[in-house]
Amino acid sequence: MILNIKVKILSRKEVGPNIYLIRLKAPEIAQDALPGQFIHIKCSKDNYPLLRRPLSIHRIDKEKGEIFILFQAVGDGTKLLAQREIGDDLDIMGPIGNGFNIYPKSRKIMIVGGGIGVAPLLALCEESIRQGKEVRVLIGALKKELIIGEESYKILGAKVDVATDDGSYKHKGLVTDLLEGSIREGWLADQIFACGPKSMLKKIVEISLDAHIDCQVSLEERMACGIGACLGCVCKIKTKDKKEDKVKYEYKRVCVDGPVFGGSEVVWDD
Ligand SMILES: Cc1cc2nc3c(=O)[nH]c(=O)nc-3n(C[C@H](O)[C@H](O)[C@H](O)COP(=O)(O)OP(=O)(O)OC[C@H]3O[C@@H](n4cnc5c(N)ncnc54)[C@H](O)[C@@H]3O)c2cc1C
Ligand code: FES
Repeated sequence: MILNIKVKILSRKEVGPNIYLIRLKAPEIAQDALPGQFIHIKCSKDNYPLLRRPLSIHRIDKEKGEIFILFQAVGDGTKLLAQREIGDDLDIMGPIGNGFNIYPKSRKIMIVGGGIGVAPLLALCEESIRQGKEVRVLIGALKKELIIGEESYKILGAKVDVATDDGSYKHKGLVTDLLEGSIREGWLADQIFACGPKSMLKKIVEISLDAHIDCQVSLEERMACGIGACLGCVCKIKTKDKKEDKVKYEYKRVCVDGPVFGGSEVVWDD
């Protein structure tokens, strides 16, 4: 069930240039939230901006009844959110969306995050490790200062590798180079999960299809209502009509039908 509640800001930290980590007291949401779901946030105390902004649930602490969000202040909404004080009440709706689907039979999990796309992946990593999976994480960013969360994944027990476009830290190049490298070396995941820029996701899906590895991607679209009513966030999805044995296309709402989709279902160049 999607709740609309006011929750308290417990802490707020700038963890990178214009990148903020906020901890919220939200026991009702922490209880039900799944990795890959998001919350829809009223960023300021007044009515500007009018529309809420969607942010992924970065970490879920069910015991303490807390959730975390990790976000980059890119425009008015997220800049106003970054200025909210510890102790403020935040008006949020959630948890929203389908979340990632970790298959019980999977033993090896590969998680790939590009830029601020790492945001929903820590909760996924934590849950995968809790379920006894072997987890590798690949993080990509433009430069060293924009690498977020490397240590957090290591503390959980994941093996982490990093790529920067400018070579200022670890592998110089794209995070997809690391994915191709690990497959070449014979580390074959049962599932790949990814979040980040569309060009990165598209390449990851191509790699996963070549290697016959199941892949799920978390998509970002601009959102209005965030609860499936306005159709403002649709994306084109390829499905198979089993009766007629042919491919068909339909539009799905990223907010409630996603944000996670099977990589091979997404129509990228539309
Ligand atoms: C399901 C979902 C989960 C998300 N999770 C996170 C997260 O955990 N952390 C995070 O930093 N961001 C996340 N985003 C993106 C975040 O919602 C946008 O950055 C935010 O809404 C921008 O609002 P703004 O008012 O600050 O900027 P605006 O003034 O609205 O936009 C500033 C710039 O950001 C671009 N932008 C705005 N919204 C989106 C969007 N939805 N997708 C791609 N580009 C956008 C605009 O085109 C513009 O260039 C998520 C988006 C979705 C759909
Ligand atoms: S944002 Fe309204 S239907 Fe998705």
